[in-house]
Amino acid sequence: MQRTHYCGALTKSDAGQPVLLCGWVHRRRDHGGLIFVDLRDREGFIQVVFNPENNQASYALAQEIRNEFVIRVKGQARLRPAGTENRQIPTGEVEVLASELVILNASKTPPFSIEEDVEASEGVRFRYRYLDLRRPGVQKTLITRHHLVRLIRQFLETSGFIEIETPVLTKSTPEGARDYLVPSRVNPGHFYALPQSPQLFKQILMVAGFDRYYQVARCFRDEDLRADRQPEFTQLDMEMSFVEREDILVLIEKLICKVFSELKGITLETPFPRMSYAQAMERYGTDKPDLRISMELAEVTPVVSGAGFRVFQEVIDQGGVVKGLCVPKAASWSRKEMDDLTREAQELGARGLAWIRVTDQGFDSPIVKFFPEQVLNDLRGTLQAASGDLMIFAADQPAVVNSVLSELRLRLARRTGGESSDSAGQDPASISTEQYRPVWILDFPLLEYDETEKRYVALHHPFTAPADEDVSALQSDPKNIRAKAYDLVVNGEELGGGSIRIHQLPLQSRMFDLLGIDPEEARDKFGFLLEALEYGTPPHGGIAIGLDRLAMILAGCDTIRDVIAFPKTQKAICLLTDAPSSVSDLQLKELKIQSKIPGES
Ligand code: AMO
Ligand code: AMP
Repeated sequence: MQRTHYCGALTKSDAGQPVLLCGWVHRRRDHGGLIFVDLRDREGFIQVVFNPENNQASYALAQEIRNEFVIRVKGQARLRPAGTENRQIPTGEVEVLASELVILNASKTPPFSIEEDVEASEGVRFRYRYLDLRRPGVQKTLITRHHLVRLIRQFLETSGFIEIETPVLTKSTPEGARDYLVPSRVNPGHFYALPQSPQLFKQILMVAGFDRYYQVARCFRDEDLRADRQPEFTQLDMEMSFVEREDILVLIEKLICKVFSELKGITLETPFPRMSYAQAMERYGTDKPDLRISMELAEVTPVVSGAGFRVFQEVIDQGGVVKGLCVPKAASWSRKEMDDLTREAQELGARGLAWIRVTDQGFDSPIVKFFPEQVLNDLRGTLQAASGDLMIFAADQPAVVNSVLSELRLRLARRTGGESSDSAGQDPASISTEQYRPVWILDFPLLEYDETEKRYVALHHPFTAPADEDVSALQSDPKNIRAKAYDLVVNGEELGGGSIRIHQLPLQSRMFDLLGIDPEEARDKFGFLLEALEYGTPPHGGIAIGLDRLAMILAGCDTIRDVIAFPKTQKAICLLTDAPSSVSDLQLKELKIQSKIPGES
């Protein structure tokens, strides 16, 4: 036997027992006459004592060990002497008196120490990810992810779902990002695409009659990376037959509640709040509002229209809008702070930022002179600003105003978070990290106009069904058609999205028509699905939850890189393996591929 216990599993009740432990040397302390080693494994730490009086040879060998050596220790567990207990760690009341030491392997000095507050850059940590992964906090995160997936499987199992794997070497799936392509050696000039999601296969599985499918599915998208985006990521992908939107929302709420209750001990209130896409854009300027922040945008176009401020009027005359945001208790910000905020808004794409301080003495701003008192009071009323608050305004086309103010709303909440508290005891702008605010966003537009392609594209994907009430206006008023699509947003993070699908060929064909996809192209790209629709396709719908994002929220991490064992960098590089890398000429020759990079000979 290699060992009797995990290091981190020893307790007081093991005192007096012989033990055999294996692990990594976390730290060695020489106390003249005694050597203490903190031995680490997956489950935690234990203090091992080498006493020459107990075993001279082991004591001598213990002098040679260094951090991150792998050792095996035989000894006896005992209570630590009174006064030397360490209440910070679970095994802090016990230690092991060593009688035998085997060095199983040596270690070079690691490029960074294996501590929670590691100072190394992400670049170094990812290059030596196996060392980074030794840090107990990182291990805990991945273990939480393991518990999450196990819990999800259990839940879906009892809800009648069947887990089915779908291909990774497949055909392009329409999720809107670029595909990763894989050349086929046996079919020269032909390429597989890695799936952006199992969308088409899961619909086909409904045609096949599986009724309830799920998969923990790896998806691949070649898109610009951010903190919450990786080129390969994992979805909890689901599809159900004979359901309506309500069935799916209720099921997912149950699942999410179970996850939060079992993994965080937090009870989420159900039903989750619901908001239409239009409401979300109006009140928060985004379709993924962070409801922990109470600040809301307010449209003031009618209030300022005709009031005489040239900057606003010009925008309004060009069909633009003016929206405002009330920043609680920010009237005291200095002129310089306001200039900085304006610059920030401009960097986000705004032409400028207008601001008005609300004080006991009245309104204060370089632009108050342009507005009659009544308009100022109306602005204050619309934004529900109190004395001491700051009102900020952006005027532009709706998309710009929304994107600038929604981002400022987040930044300002983070900045003012927790600094002061109002009479209710909580700063209305602050973000609590231990609060979870889910919200369903519903009634998305079916289509959006793509200015570069000069055609409509599906906002979700082309298989999403239009709202029943809107079908008749598909041709006459495409941009106002609502989709049977829904997103689950938690704390401003899009956690999942799905829809009820089109299950009848004529409607699917009309949809392709609207998207400017001609029948030939449709057959070429999705012919297999279209054909399947003609063989008794049940009404169906589904959803995909971003597992990495859910794990990130549960673990309280800022990026999904922290919940992925081997993540890629912003430039889609795996620093551990150095992928992607060049390949041999022979490989390319076999694939009948030539690689020519412009500018390289
Ligand atoms: P969608 O494209 O909205 O829907 O994706 C579902 C969820 O997957 C997560 N996600 C990502 N996570 C990490 N990195 C990425 N690059 C990334 N892209 C997406 C998000 C997102 O909400 N087939 C549809 C689902 C359906 O209709 O059933 C789909 O893939 O959390
Ligand atoms: P100007 O007359 O261009 O100096 O602008 C007067 C004030 O309005 C300045 O504080 C600008 O930052 C602000 N401003 C300019 N353009 C906009 C805009 N599109 N939206 C909001 N404020 C603006």
